[in-house]
Amino acid sequence: MLRTRFCDTFGVRHPIVQGGMQWVGRAELVSAVAESGALGMLTALTQPTPEALGAEIDRCRERTDHPFGVNLTILPSINPPPYDEYRRAIIESGVRIVETAGANPAEHIPEFHAAGVKVLHKCTSVRHAVKAQEAGVDAVSIDGFECAGHPGEDDVPGLVLIPAAAERLSIPMVACGGFADARGLVSALALGADGITMGTRFLCTREAPVHRRIKEAVVAASERETELIFRPLRNTARVASNSVSREVVGILDDGGSFEDVRDLVAGARGRAVFEQGDPEHGIWSSGMVQGLIHDIPSVAEVVDRIVTGARETITERLARVVPA
Ligand SMILES: Cc1cc2nc3c(=O)[nH]c(=O)nc-3n(C[C@H](O)[C@H](O)[C@H](O)COP(=O)(O)O)c2cc1C
Repeated sequence: MLRTRFCDTFGVRHPIVQGGMQWVGRAELVSAVAESGALGMLTALTQPTPEALGAEIDRCRERTDHPFGVNLTILPSINPPPYDEYRRAIIESGVRIVETAGANPAEHIPEFHAAGVKVLHKCTSVRHAVKAQEAGVDAVSIDGFECAGHPGEDDVPGLVLIPAAAERLSIPMVACGGFADARGLVSALALGADGITMGTRFLCTREAPVHRRIKEAVVAASERETELIFRPLRNTARVASNSVSREVVGILDDGGSFEDVRDLVAGARGRAVFEQGDPEHGIWSSGMVQGLIHDIPSVAEVVDRIVTGARETITERLARVVPA
């Protein structure tokens, strides 16, 4: 057992979060994470409507009695999803934990808090973390440059970002991006975090509702095989390196516009990757940490290895560094 402020704030056994993952954060994975004692997040926008999200929450509840949360990703969009309706669906479902990401969550906090929902806000810079704290979130998840998905535009890796954020925050903070094992959790705690959030490691578990060939592609890939797409558009995303992501990078680097890559980056193609198992079919997120992922275990095994290993590292290997 490891116990931090994060465990107390969110009422979970282990200081480990499974971050929201488009097309992956469904009941199968999230309930397994909840059963393991970590905190899983359903991904709201994976569901086509707020009603469908309500049904997915019910499906998750049928599989576990432990707490879980919902990720609400608020990204700039020409036709934004009805965020307010998703927020209401979360509140009405009785879920009491939300992971917000993508933009300042301030406008959503009063209603969440009025309903007793705790807000864990994920962001990629110290200034955004401080702003979120001022806006009243209950905890922050700080995402370093290593991460899968959106690392922001500052390119500050976790080794600097985590302690820099810890110096400025008084609320609990979890470190995110590049974590997959016990060494990572211990280092996050040493840097001032109260736990870790992981995406790619949970994508690569038996319970993740993703085609096995994609998990095998993560295991086979090294830390060097990711691409940063949308850099020139200042909406950077770290994704698996494949023929499609490399083509997108090339087109935008040559001065192309979003219109020129729209078909290549279509969400439907990314979804088909996970469902059909062809890693070259579209754009899909994966982090540098894939270089540290060598197997496809169960969620319970991942969490147990991390917690047991972190305890051993702290009480044995690190304790030996200090002369008696
Ligand atoms: C397949 C995949 C999909 C993701 N989709 C989302 C998303 O919809 N919303 C979000 O806030 N983060 C998303 N993320 C980011 C994760 O929640 C987490 O921040 C990230 O994976 C951490 O980096 P790591 O992969 O090195 O652990 C996604 C990550 C992956 C791997």
